[in-house]
Amino acid sequence: MIPTLTWTDDGVRFLDQTRLPLEETYVLATDYGQVADAIATMVVRGAPAIGVSAAYGIALGAMRSRAESAERFAPEFEKICARLASTRPTAVNLFWSIDRMKRLFADLLSSGTPLIQMQKKILAEAHAMYAEDISACKAMGAHGAALLPQEGAVLTHCNAGALATCGYGTALGVIRAAVERGKRIHVYADETRPFLQGARLTAWELMADGIPTTVICDNMAASLMRAGKIQAVVVGADRIAANGDTANKIGTYNVAILAKEHGIPFYVAAPWSTIDRATPNGDAIPIEERPHAEVTHHAGKQLTPNGVGICNPAFDVTPSKYITAIVTERGVLRAPYIDALREMELVAG
Ligand code: MRU
Repeated sequence: MIPTLTWTDDGVRFLDQTRLPLEETYVLATDYGQVADAIATMVVRGAPAIGVSAAYGIALGAMRSRAESAERFAPEFEKICARLASTRPTAVNLFWSIDRMKRLFADLLSSGTPLIQMQKKILAEAHAMYAEDISACKAMGAHGAALLPQEGAVLTHCNAGALATCGYGTALGVIRAAVERGKRIHVYADETRPFLQGARLTAWELMADGIPTTVICDNMAASLMRAGKIQAVVVGADRIAANGDTANKIGTYNVAILAKEHGIPFYVAAPWSTIDRATPNGDAIPIEERPHAEVTHHAGKQLTPNGVGICNPAFDVTPSKYITAIVTERGVLRAPYIDALREMELVAG
């Protein structure tokens, strides 16, 4: 299993995704501020991995606290949560994870739990989220594998793999599960400008698993689809609104429109922690604007003339009408998503 993030006695160890695929190096975050920095600078990225990293960041902040009591730790706890919440606004798993920790903290505080016990329980909760994330990915894989053809090519955008989760992946988990069940799948990985998660990360991860992969530039998908070379698209998600509108890496919307035009199924795979029923539709999803240097420069080399205008939204929203199905660990949902999501929430309790 790829060690995307690992809890150690010294802090949280991240596989540095800014350096892949050429260097396999690790960054050790020894306090919660360093965890926040690792999330903001994309040493660790991908919505589920961001959520669990924040949980470990909170655990690290609690373990390192010098407060004399749980009551005295309370303002510090709020500060830790606020710092981690300020890192990446679109991935709702971040806020889901922080809210879960806040509920735990409130329960522990009201039941008079001493700080030392509290620290153990907060860390145990982070470990639970880590384990749940892997089992959710495996369950998504089991549900989603049936949707892919017995033999054919699947296009994916960005990296929604083991590197974006605690292991196995969401979109790439569906592909992995299909391959494990004997399906012969060739993956086309969009390079995913500007951060190149497809060219650098998806390609690296799938090659390590021996899954045949071809990297294409983002502007090549239409012509491959027209040539009949793509049988399905599967992507991940950063936030799914109540009506099924889905925020994912910038460029996903383009792919969804192309898939519809060519009659190719377009699947989204995401854990339940990515579903945000409090956000009614895609227009209400906050979209992160990333530093302009990600567009103007590559590997330290300037690509654009000085002073040119730049915009760098990290995500776009795919309206639910383009989505053939949403694969979650609870099962496969079909439109109308507003009803499907509500019903599945009720069934799961
Ligand atoms: O900016 P990133 O690399 O964090 O964006 C990642 C994505 O868009 C993924 O598709 C999404 O988070 C799902 S990861 C399982």
